[in-house]
Amino acid sequence: MSTLIRNGTVVTAESTFPADILVEGEKIKEVRLGIPTGAADRTIDATGLLLMPGGVDAHTHLDMPFGGTTSSDDFETGTRAAAFGGTTTIVDFAIQARGTRMRDALDTWWKKAEGKACVDFGLHMIVTDLGVAGLEDMDDLVNEGVASFKLFMAYPNVLMVDDATIFRALKRTAKNGALICMHAENGSVIDVIVQQALAEGKTAPIYHGLTRPTTAEAEAVNRSIAMAEMAGVPVYIVHLSSEDALNKVREARDRGLPAFAETCPQYLLLSIEEMERPNFEGAKYVFTPPLREKKNLGKLWDGLKHDHLQVVSTDHCPFCFEDQKVLGKDDFTKIPNGGPGIENRLQLIYHHGVNEGKLSINRFVELVSTTPARIFGMYPRKGAIAAGSDADIVFWDPQADYTISAKTHHMRVDYSMFEGFRVKGNVSKVMSRGEVVVDGGNFLGKVGRGRYLKRAARGGAWAS
Ligand code: URP
Ligand code: ZN
Ligand code: ZN
Repeated sequence: MSTLIRNGTVVTAESTFPADILVEGEKIKEVRLGIPTGAADRTIDATGLLLMPGGVDAHTHLDMPFGGTTSSDDFETGTRAAAFGGTTTIVDFAIQARGTRMRDALDTWWKKAEGKACVDFGLHMIVTDLGVAGLEDMDDLVNEGVASFKLFMAYPNVLMVDDATIFRALKRTAKNGALICMHAENGSVIDVIVQQALAEGKTAPIYHGLTRPTTAEAEAVNRSIAMAEMAGVPVYIVHLSSEDALNKVREARDRGLPAFAETCPQYLLLSIEEMERPNFEGAKYVFTPPLREKKNLGKLWDGLKHDHLQVVSTDHCPFCFEDQKVLGKDDFTKIPNGGPGIENRLQLIYHHGVNEGKLSINRFVELVSTTPARIFGMYPRKGAIAAGSDADIVFWDPQADYTISAKTHHMRVDYSMFEGFRVKGNVSKVMSRGEVVVDGGNFLGKVGRGRYLKRAARGGAWAS
């Protein structure tokens, strides 16, 4: 099947230009003006629409056991919601259980996705234990296309690892070319503050925010970067939330270090006041790092604009309010940490970034698609509108008005963090590997059509 997309405006990370796109099978064959109408089996008219590379969300948690429960979107519901929002590639996290091999976790996560994923997906590996053949396991996983590993400096006794483990993992990436992603918060210090709060009877959701100071984030970001510098490798900070932490990344980059960082829509658009909502509704905003004071928001937008931050991902980790968040009704430490957002990333960043003049449209594409594809070893197969790339194309209507609501979203979760947010600019159609999977309000793709992406480590060639 071939498709000719006519009369649209192509938007890439570099430029904006009118062009036709010829898609043959799963790939883009040609991008230029004046491709003859008879060149394809079918024609789609994209008059008035922007044609952008499919979104790449490099940070999602589908079907993830956490906090005594499991995130409420699985690979079917989560990737379908992603597609509705214009995201055609995700990178999710497999978790190595302590005392087990990373390969077991990879198999488990492949099974979770099998027959369910609606868009293409890669996997990072969360490392919890380098005791059992760990470093060799990392190399083995890189060969399987797991080109990145996440390590936690927070959640003591659950996911947190010590500095020696982090440093050993970082050093190994000098050999195997993988990228270390850091959850950077000083978990040991936070734990002392949390225990003190609980002892004082402070159990409401807001204390999740008040017990995790930005200094604990900044210190851990600084430590991560220092360890990466000593190991002589790059490092990527996930879900960066505050100006204090951002300053550490900026200082490192100013010194020429390969330090990269992402932030998420919730840190750009929401602040800690949300966690004070009555009737336990603050729990809807319990995730880690927490929401920060309002003064941080503009600094993060500036960071995106000036490339101190390189990526916007979602950290989509949904838990239903009614039967999951409620686990922490009497103790904020028992509220499952995470929030939903996989469907709304492009809408929110386009509206608040591009429409409000904080980002150019090309920077928008770079942040939500091209750079995550590059950093995580998928470019130019993903993140590009160019001959030879996968035909993952978002047909974007810049005039569409849309109000975000749990009543109409496709994520399997009973609330929205952005309930009532009105945006201008939304998905009209979504093509994934040459197939129109979303058309208006309809999902047309087959469940399970999404493929595992074998991602390339630094310097490695893309392996499909
Ligand atoms: O609260 C969060 N962010 N939940 C997901 C796990 C993580 O730390 O990314
Ligand atoms: Zn994290
Ligand atoms: Zn996460």
